[in-house]
Amino acid sequence: MIEKHIKAGKVLKTVREEVVKLVKPDVSYLEIAEFVESKIRELGAEPAFPCNISINEDAAHSTPSKNDKRVFREGDLVKIDIGAHIDGYIADTAFSIDLGEHDDLVECAERALKNAIEIIEPGVNTAEIGREIHKIAKEFGFNPVYNLTGHGFLPYIAHAPPTIYNYSVDRGVEIKEGMVFAIEPFITSGAGKVAERKEIQIYSVISNKPVRMKMAREILSEVEKYRTLPFAKRWLKNPREIILLKLVRDGILRAYPVLTEIKREPVSQAEHTIVVREGGAKIIT
Ligand code: CO
Repeated sequence: MIEKHIKAGKVLKTVREEVVKLVKPDVSYLEIAEFVESKIRELGAEPAFPCNISINEDAAHSTPSKNDKRVFREGDLVKIDIGAHIDGYIADTAFSIDLGEHDDLVECAERALKNAIEIIEPGVNTAEIGREIHKIAKEFGFNPVYNLTGHGFLPYIAHAPPTIYNYSVDRGVEIKEGMVFAIEPFITSGAGKVAERKEIQIYSVISNKPVRMKMAREILSEVEKYRTLPFAKRWLKNPREIILLKLVRDGILRAYPVLTEIKREPVSQAEHTIVVREGGAKIIT
């Protein structure tokens, strides 16, 4: 199992290094998302979720639509969050690219991630990770995003326990050798809280209840291959909004609305997946 996480991580490491060089003003979101997803496949893994491209105050769950015309612009703070899996064993990583003047925010997220990883070893409590991230955010004069977290993995499930908070909590769980989890500090000059926007581009299947409507059945058979992992509306042959929303209402799909900072202040992000070893954490992404 751990070997498969590591293999997925290695794929992401390569993709990450290549995509960093491609994000520039006038390049389209769609071009980057498609590059990431096809590169993951080319390197022998599968995307664990759609390539997330979130700009400025948007923090997560944003991915381009099929005919998306948006391009990066001078001044943007870009977050790219990518996941890959081998037989359901996931690795997850994210980074910020500053096309403007957000150096402090980007540096803060990177420093918080680095310091958090450094304190990890068997026997440490996950609460210590949150405390470290919170401390760094405050040192920079920023807030962590309190309602976004790092996470563990289960086969074909991208967010499983343990929850890794980005702030000081009373109590977490004891870190043990062999654990695999993602740490992902989000840092903002805003209030440190995200809320849902109306826009939805990402869904996942949460129930296998039978459905009667033919168009709904067609969508469900098309996404069966993603199992319980999130998929993009853009990945569907015929993405019919109305059918997707009906499936959400019926409790068959879960929607992931775009999450945006409530003060509309920019958000940075840094994320790695780690494996806990005897002497400390090994970064696999
Ligand atoms: Co993650």
